[in-house]
Amino acid sequence: MKYTILTLFPDMIKQGLNTSIMGKAQEKKLIQIEAVNIRDYAYNKHKQVDDYPYGGGAGMVMQPEPIYEAYKSVIEDGNKTPRVIYLTPQGKPFNQTMAREFSKEEELIFLCGHYEGVDERVIDRIVTDEVSIGDYILTGGELAVMVMIDAISRLIPDVLSNETSAEIETFDDNLLEYPQYTRPAVFMDDRVPDVLLSGHHKNIDVWRRQQSLIRTYHKRPDLLETANLTEADRKFLDK
Ligand code: ADE
Repeated sequence: MKYTILTLFPDMIKQGLNTSIMGKAQEKKLIQIEAVNIRDYAYNKHKQVDDYPYGGGAGMVMQPEPIYEAYKSVIEDGNKTPRVIYLTPQGKPFNQTMAREFSKEEELIFLCGHYEGVDERVIDRIVTDEVSIGDYILTGGELAVMVMIDAISRLIPDVLSNETSAEIETFDDNLLEYPQYTRPAVFMDDRVPDVLLSGHHKNIDVWRRQQSLIRTYHKRPDLLETANLTEADRKFLDK
């Protein structure tokens, strides 16, 4: 997967994704991250990339030309153009289903806004998807891009090792994950549930499924409306 980020703060992106699993995924060439500085495509000699909003009002607006030129510099002629994701609190809320869908692409371009926004005309011309990472306002799209790249990349084959596998986890079937335990078997008089020490895999699977249902019911009941529930799940929840 190749990610290209159009941003005014390329160092922030590079530093933020250089360590841990994202760093390793880059070393192994499973993902490639290129941060393009929009300021390098500024039109005037002061390298200015923003201006006052037409019609008045507070703040500055990012100008269309530098963004468009930065975009053109990363698009290869003839090839199918990649999706261009604009990070904005007005976008579609990011979730695990979207992460999975994006992880199937070969290349993604992200546009990070700043100041009060981006001139609408360049959004209309290049953006294919508007995405928000939550109902709050960040100072810019950079942190949001890092969140998305992390969530998308861990779904790409071989990015996670077996120990950190994404095989069964929260949001599969739209349910929260069951509780996990490791050694010691007793911690401050609190014993790991017997079933997990029993070695009986069928019983463990049933217990885990029920724990997922209980957790989702208590912590995120909204998810149950669209969860993939079996007949047995429904019976259990009715109790
Ligand atoms: N830019 C500013 N706030 C944002 C948010 N919540 N999600 C995505 N991009 C943003």
